[in-house]
Amino acid sequence: MKKLYIETYGCQMNVADTEIVFSILGKEGFSRTESIAEADVILANTCSVRDNAEQRIWGRIEQFNIQKKARKGVIIGILGCMAERLKDALLESGKVDLVAGPDAYRRLPELLSAVSEGHPQIDVILSREETYADISPVRIDTNGVSAFISIMRGCNNVCSYCVVPFTRGAERSRDWHSIVREACECVENGYKEVTLLGQNVDSYRFGEVNFAGLLRMVAESCPSLRIRFSTSNPQDISDEVLQTMAGHDNICHHIHLPVQSGSDRMLEKMRRRYTRQWYLDRVAAIRRHMPDCAISTDVIAGFCSETEEDHKDTLSLFEAVGFDAAYMFYYSERPGTLAARKYPDDVDIETKTRRLEEIIALQNRLSLESNRRDLGKVMRVLVEGPSKKNPAELCGRAGSNKMCVWPDTVHKAGDFVDVRVLDCTQATLLCELA
Ligand code: SAH
Ligand code: SF4
Ligand code: F3S
Repeated sequence: MKKLYIETYGCQMNVADTEIVFSILGKEGFSRTESIAEADVILANTCSVRDNAEQRIWGRIEQFNIQKKARKGVIIGILGCMAERLKDALLESGKVDLVAGPDAYRRLPELLSAVSEGHPQIDVILSREETYADISPVRIDTNGVSAFISIMRGCNNVCSYCVVPFTRGAERSRDWHSIVREACECVENGYKEVTLLGQNVDSYRFGEVNFAGLLRMVAESCPSLRIRFSTSNPQDISDEVLQTMAGHDNICHHIHLPVQSGSDRMLEKMRRRYTRQWYLDRVAAIRRHMPDCAISTDVIAGFCSETEEDHKDTLSLFEAVGFDAAYMFYYSERPGTLAARKYPDDVDIETKTRRLEEIIALQNRLSLESNRRDLGKVMRVLVEGPSKKNPAELCGRAGSNKMCVWPDTVHKAGDFVDVRVLDCTQATLLCELA
C-alpha cells in the first residue's frame, strides 16, 4: 500500500476537497498517513487568495524536497487554487512532479501512475459540470463531530480583487439529492453538525430547488443534525433564507456576511453589487427575523485608492453593525484580476497595516462587547472535546459559533450540552453547566 500525505491550506472548501481526494485515492489503494517522513506521495492542497498564502506554499515545497532527496521515488504534488493559477510555472520550478487543479481530482490515479513512471503531469482544466456529487468524502477532521458538505463549486461573481473565479471556474450547484444523502450519511456516521459550503450559497440552484429549499430539506431530513452554512453574499441573501433559518431549530443562527468595505466608492471599485445602505438593511432584516443571530464578516483594508475617508466608513460600519467576529485582511494584489489590470495598488504597506490594525482593535472591542451581551444567558453547545488550556474543562461552540469552555468531567465530544455564561474574554465565553 502506498502512503499518502496531504496538507490543506485556504478555505473550508479546500478541506472538503482534500476529503474527496482521500476518497478517490483511497479506492486506488492509497492509505492516509499523517507523517510526512513515511509518505510515498506528498500533496499540498493550496490557496492563492493572498500573496502570503502562496509564499507559504513555496516554503513548504522546499521542505517537501528535503524528503524527496532523502528517499527515492517520493512524489510531490500541488493541488487546488495555486495549481490552477500558476499551472506550468510550478512544474518548471523543477520541485514539483504533479500539478492538479480543483476540477482534475478524478484523474489523480492516472496522473500519479504516469508520474511514477517518470513523467511530470499537469491537469488544470476547469469544468462546468464537476461537483464530485457521487464521491463520499473520507473525513479528515479528528473529532468526528462536525463535517463540511460542499453544495456548489466555482464563483460567477467577479469581485475585482478576487482570484477565486480564476482558480475555481464557473459556478455550478450540486444535485440536492446527493447533498441530502451525504447529510444523512453524516448522521449515520455519528456526526452532529454539518456546514454547507459555497462561495455564494444564496445563488445555489438545482432544478427547482434554491438555497432556502435546500436548507429546509437538509434540516427536515436530518432533524438531529445541527446545520451551518457559509458564505452568504449581501447582494443575494434572501428573506426566504432568513425565514427558513428562523423556522428551524436545528439551523444555527449565525450568518457569515462578508462586507469587504464600508465605503460605497470602494464597494463599487471592488465590484461588489451592493451599497453600504443595502448591507445595513440586510443586517436589519436578519435581526428582524432572528434577534439573536450572530453576524460575522470579512473585510479588506487598503484596497486601491482607498482614502482615510473610505477607511473611516469601514470603521463606522463595523461600529454600526457591531459584528460578533471578523476575518480581517489587507489588500493583496492578485495577478490577472480586474483590479490588478485596472487600478494601481497604491496604498502603501505602512498605511495598509495601520488601517488593518485599527480595524482589528475595533473588532476586538466589538467581540468583547458581543460576548458581554451573552453574560447570564443559557445556550446549547456542541461539545468538541477537552479545552486546550485545561483538561478538566470541555469546549464547544454555541449556535452563534462562539467558543465556550466550562468545567465538565461528564460529557464528551459530540454531546449537546446547555451551559450558562458566567464570564468572558474577547475570544471565549466562560461558562458552567446549566
Ligand atoms: N466568496 C466569499 C469570499 C471568499 S475569499 C465572499 O464573497 O465573501 C475569502 C475572503 O478573502 C474574502 O471575503 C476577502 O475578504 C478576502 N480576499 C479575497 N481576495 C483578497 C485579496 N486580493 N486581498 C486581500 N483579501 C482578499
Ligand atoms: Fe471572490 Fe467575490 Fe466570488 Fe467571493 S463572491 S469568491 S470575493 S469573486
Ligand atoms: Fe483560497 Fe481557493 Fe479557498 S484561493 S480561499 S483555497 S477557493
